[in-house]
Amino acid sequence: MSTRTTVDVPESIRTDGYYCEVPHEPCAVVMFGASGDLAKRKLLPALYDLAVHACLAPRFRLLGFARTPMGDEQFRSATSEAIAKKDGPGADEGKRQNFLSQTGYFAGDYDDPGSYRRLAQRLDELDGEGRLNGNRLFYLATPPEVYAHIVEQLGAAGLAKPVRDGSWTRVIIEKPFGRDGASARALNARVLSVFDESQVYRIDHYLGKETVQNLLVFRFGNGIFEPLWNRNYIDHIQITAAESLGVERRAAFYESAGTLRDMIQSHVLQLTSLVSMESPATFDATAVRNEKIKILQSIRPLQPEMVWKSVVRGQYGAGSVQGTAVPGYRQEPGVKPDSATETFVALKLLVDNWRWSGVPFYLRSGKRLARPGTEIAIRFKQAPHMVFQGNNVEPNSLVLNIQPDEGISLSFGAKAPGGQMEIRPVTMDFRYRQAFGAGSREAYATLINDCIRGDATLFDRADSVEAAWSLVDPVLKAWEAGASPPFPNYPAGSQGPHAADDLLASEGRRWRPL
Ligand code: BG6
Repeated sequence: MSTRTTVDVPESIRTDGYYCEVPHEPCAVVMFGASGDLAKRKLLPALYDLAVHACLAPRFRLLGFARTPMGDEQFRSATSEAIAKKDGPGADEGKRQNFLSQTGYFAGDYDDPGSYRRLAQRLDELDGEGRLNGNRLFYLATPPEVYAHIVEQLGAAGLAKPVRDGSWTRVIIEKPFGRDGASARALNARVLSVFDESQVYRIDHYLGKETVQNLLVFRFGNGIFEPLWNRNYIDHIQITAAESLGVERRAAFYESAGTLRDMIQSHVLQLTSLVSMESPATFDATAVRNEKIKILQSIRPLQPEMVWKSVVRGQYGAGSVQGTAVPGYRQEPGVKPDSATETFVALKLLVDNWRWSGVPFYLRSGKRLARPGTEIAIRFKQAPHMVFQGNNVEPNSLVLNIQPDEGISLSFGAKAPGGQMEIRPVTMDFRYRQAFGAGSREAYATLINDCIRGDATLFDRADSVEAAWSLVDPVLKAWEAGASPPFPNYPAGSQGPHAADDLLASEGRRWRPL
């Protein structure tokens, strides 16, 4: 017998430009790593954001789980501080207090079976008190080394199975999911020995960004672009995820990760799949993810000898970012003075299928670059014959600005006014803010809402995480086996290492300036 209940709010609502599908079911969210940085910066504000916009069912409980000893009140005040930034002027104190009254804390050890037995009891109590229908979402936002322990302990304590008929239990696992192909496969095996794949939501927050989802709408919701989206019309594609920030306070993590693992394997390859995949038959989790895996499997693996030709790595030295002097990576707190960790990667990939045969995809990502900006630039082929003598017309570009200046621009040549036939570059621009007014919703809020609704379309499946790792594995191996790189090789605040420019210049192309 189903225990599903309906709640007394409309199925979907629109408040100040903030649209959401209201989850039908109440639930408990257990957040592992609740005292950590990600929880404070992103996850607690995202849940609060959903709550104030009535995107969570009214019967909802949040239980923070971490090692730090603290009581419910202390957790509530830390949560209140974390969400304060979201509130802004005119905050509704009643809404904030209501959200905080639904939160609690549980201090436990990630690998102590007793902690999980007590957690099970606490969840049963919450379930009864809050009439949560046994629905549970476990959010793993801890250091990645403990993911497998948590999952196995949840299984051993009987917490992985749905509580009763009609209730659900799901787990969100943060990135990085593994640190290479072998560890990702091992983690998948351990997770899937406890949970069914349908319960597992591997998160990559880029997929929750409005502009990233709009990439699919742009391609598959409009008739005019798709006929051009192939090797016949496109010269190459550039994908950039540039940050002006440095490593911040994350040296402990970053030293063992680097840009290839931290950004390319995840966010940048997600963008690559979305810009290049075939149209799914429908917009659902199975169809979309089937198309994404096909493209990852079509990317030509980088043979070891190609790594040195097609992949450039860099590390920032001291420099100046937007007028402020900043130290080099090796001088950042917690970084080894001779660190060989890369803070920049540029690479070229080829996709071996009919649509993309011969079209290079140039990807780059780095920290402490001149300007922050994530974009996908589609560079079209030059007009086949120039009838306007004396003009050197730039080929058309379509630039999808993911952030911070969200929008889409198409550049083309236009006749400059006057008696001469002079052609100058101009752009047609679409800007989110102008078109829709409201700012976009935090990616994490979108994804948590999707998970509570049981929609896995924007989450990674086991096979695609493994496929993405298999693309970066040869690079990791070659770097490990090779000599120490000549770091630092780009000053903070610059466009990145010269070798990245050479990668394109050797093929008669150049990066779009940051
Ligand atoms: C995270 C990386 O996944 O993404 C960080 O670990 C990076 O190093 C961040 O700064 C970038 O995310 P966003 O949303 O700020 O572009």
